[in-house]
Amino acid sequence: MELHVKKIKNGTVIDHINQGYSLDVLSILNITGKEKHVVSVAMNVPSKDIGRKDIVKIEDWELKPRDVDKIALIAPHATINIIRNYNVVDKKKVNLPKILKGTIKCNNPSCISNSREPIESMFHVKDDISLSIRCHFCGRIMEKDDVLNQF
Ligand code: CTP
Repeated sequence: MELHVKKIKNGTVIDHINQGYSLDVLSILNITGKEKHVVSVAMNVPSKDIGRKDIVKIEDWELKPRDVDKIALIAPHATINIIRNYNVVDKKKVNLPKILKGTIKCNNPSCISNSREPIESMFHVKDDISLSIRCHFCGRIMEKDDVLNQF
């Protein structure tokens, strides 16, 4: 594939992000650009699998396992590559399950999952690209911005 951003020596490459979602991926990882890492973002790069894609490269930074689930919310087809000494030493495809348990809170204050009952939140994924999820208990629909606001 044509190289849009140069290869990195060490760090994390998040590839196959759906077109237009790279800044949301950075935001969910709490990367603001004020840290010392070199961050490169490529948007609307032609891709053989998904038409066009975004790519994020964060140098000298390795993703923690719990971050993988967060990325799946925003970029359900992303591939996460860990780079050490210019080599891809780990490659993982994220996976957004059809049912999400515990990761996100329902934003309806009167939902039973927000009561003192020990009930774990549960959502059905209606649309994994634009992100739309429905609370199992109260039916509240939450979208990408509602989810991003929780991180
Ligand atoms: N990459 C990088 N720096 C490196 C090695 C790889 O920035 N030192 C980037 C590549 O540009 C690519 C991603 O990491 O965006 C994955 O690299 P690689 O597995 O070599 O590419 P592909 O085979 O095209 O990956 P896939 O099969 O996941 O599409």
